[in-house]
Amino acid sequence: MSRALSGKIVIATHNAGKLREMRELLGPCGIEAVSAGELGLGEPEETGADFVANALIKARAATAASGLPALADDSGLCVEPLGGLPGVASARFASEAGGFSQAMAKILAELEASGAPRPWRGCFISALAVVWPDGTEASFEGRVDGDLVAPRGERGFGYDPIFQPDGHFRTFGEMESTEKHGIPADGSRALSHRARAFQKMARALLVPS
Ligand code: IMP
Repeated sequence: MSRALSGKIVIATHNAGKLREMRELLGPCGIEAVSAGELGLGEPEETGADFVANALIKARAATAASGLPALADDSGLCVEPLGGLPGVASARFASEAGGFSQAMAKILAELEASGAPRPWRGCFISALAVVWPDGTEASFEGRVDGDLVAPRGERGFGYDPIFQPDGHFRTFGEMESTEKHGIPADGSRALSHRARAFQKMARALLVPS
């Protein structure tokens, strides 16, 4: 069940890169977004088996702690020849590797060692969950497929430099955020996983201001 999302909401993330992207995407809809970090809310453990389950865990915790409707996302990079890893463990994989440069190098080394034929395929997935204080819930998933390549570009965040989306010759790390999201004015398909999930959510829950 769902309803329109409006007014003040809490974005259940402590990740500055994701918060910035979410604010850019929500801006045109006149929604005032405060973050869980700004409200000093804690971070629940992400114990879900998939992206939607983790997004719901974060949104439920943020709405319970703030009394506001909450929007949470969970996202990650799934590398096909590595069985979909790092997947829901994308953030942990990077911190255990000692940072994103090391994590990207590790993924490429594992791909090399696997002997998997090129192009190495993968996708970014983003799940968005909205939970209202009365317990109403909605969730949406966006995905973008592409090739895993040697790192290029310093824009964006996380694993952006090693991901070249299908139909493009530049990695997410080489794109301006408007190009990465590819939010089309004509209502056609957005590009990034997060923008695609947002587009689904917007069609279901948002009223342009
Ligand atoms: P979580 O959703 O906060 O659990 O973490 C998702 C992980 O995937 C983080 O390590 C992010 O850096 C990475 N990730 C998610 N979306 C993107 C993206 O658009 N570009 C690059 N890395 C991403």
